[in-house]
Amino acid sequence: MADDTFSCQDSAVLTILKTSEEVNQLKDVDTILDKILYESRNFANADAGSIFLVEKDSLVFSYVQNDTFFKKETANAALYQNFGIPISEQSIVGYVAKTRQSLAIDDAYELDQTLPFAFNKSFDEKSGYRTISMLTIPLIAQESRLVGVMQLINAKNDMGKVVPFTEEAKTYIPLFCNNASVAVERGIMNRELILRMMQMAELRDPTETGAHVQRVGAYCAEVYGTWASRRGHSAKEIKRERDNLRLAAMMHDVGKVGIADAILKKPGKLTDEEFDNMKWHTVFGARLFKNQTSELDRMSMEIALCHHEKWKGRGYPSISNSEVWVEDTLMGAEPKNGEKIPLAARICAVADVYDALSSPRSYKDPFPDEKCLGILESDAGTHFDPEIVEIFFEIFDVIKAIRDKYKEAQKN
Ligand code: C2E
Ligand code: SIN
Ligand code: SIN
Ligand code: FE
Ligand code: FE
Repeated sequence: MADDTFSCQDSAVLTILKTSEEVNQLKDVDTILDKILYESRNFANADAGSIFLVEKDSLVFSYVQNDTFFKKETANAALYQNFGIPISEQSIVGYVAKTRQSLAIDDAYELDQTLPFAFNKSFDEKSGYRTISMLTIPLIAQESRLVGVMQLINAKNDMGKVVPFTEEAKTYIPLFCNNASVAVERGIMNRELILRMMQMAELRDPTETGAHVQRVGAYCAEVYGTWASRRGHSAKEIKRERDNLRLAAMMHDVGKVGIADAILKKPGKLTDEEFDNMKWHTVFGARLFKNQTSELDRMSMEIALCHHEKWKGRGYPSISNSEVWVEDTLMGAEPKNGEKIPLAARICAVADVYDALSSPRSYKDPFPDEKCLGILESDAGTHFDPEIVEIFFEIFDVIKAIRDKYKEAQKN
């Protein structure tokens, strides 16, 4: 009997160690949240769950999974909902954030009236979901910093019936979360470092929020996910590629750091000569990734270099990877088209142009949706890979959710 208990604990600990190791290999905060939530739900056999991250005095909704509502591995607008809950004792997640203790609830509708918090029924009422059991866990990183709160919903037994969370889940998932919280902090920091670098490179303007950089990154990640699941790529492979693409796409215009202010910030139309100068931002960007030590570096270089290439050719700079390092390299020496343009760059081209069209620029006002989509449609097959445009239209509800989440006015 004692031996049994021991081996059961042993395998739980091994699962946690192995999973923590996998989490540590990821770089982007969304991929990390996805992995943590997925593995925790798997361990507890929970139907759904969400993660809130601390921002100032509130808990900002940051990730959700729900096997009842969302098909796995398809683009999902629910991920980009934008709302916060105050860190206060009135809500369950707020209470857990305040007390920093995990909280297991067997039935959300049978809470003792004397408790300080109440279950918020609004999601159930809107969606028709029925929340029963809940396990809510604080995410605490080093130096006892509270990073966020994870909430698992509706643990199921082998028959698929909703049951309370087991003692094993209540013991081991918080342990896993302690390790995972450190990874979440690192993922947040990676994004912030890139955002700061892009602020310097692109607008050299401290009031710039980086929202457009976040949008292009998220558009690319979602388009790629659909592209790869159409081809039956494994969930694991998709997550690894998305992790790199999310960050690499944020850096597509990093080479603008080498372009003079007079051109970069010009309020009107560029002359031909100024535009020729501007084209070098692709090569300047690629040169920043000369020491390729990771898959992220390789993809960042491809995107920086090739995001202005065109499907039928005659984009720029059209030079080979090795010519990037040649000082007096000649644009157009190696025409690129079709699948010679790396996939990541073909995706970024659509995301970048859509974002430029739908946002204000120093040289233009934002265009309405019909006009933006009309341009993508008419340039599919000439400027753009037609399948990427098709996917963009297919997941346009997700694209709009991303656009609403990362708005220009929202300072971060
Ligand atoms: P960006 O503003 O991020 O624009 C990215 C791409 O979106 C452009 O690449 C272009 O393909 C597309 N795009 C932007 N605005 C429009 C538009 O009004 N209509 C259409 N059909 N497409 C549009 P492109 O042309 O290679 O430009 C690269 C970068 O050069 C731009 O990045 C921007 O920073 C700069 N740029 C281009 N044209 C002008 C200009 O007239 N004035 C200024 N100040 N900058 C410009
Ligand atoms: C989901 O349930 O929404 C996605 C599960 C996964 O991350 O694979
Ligand atoms: C792929 O996922 O098939 C390729 C991604 C890339 O071009 O970097
Ligand atoms: Fe660009
Ligand atoms: Fe751009």
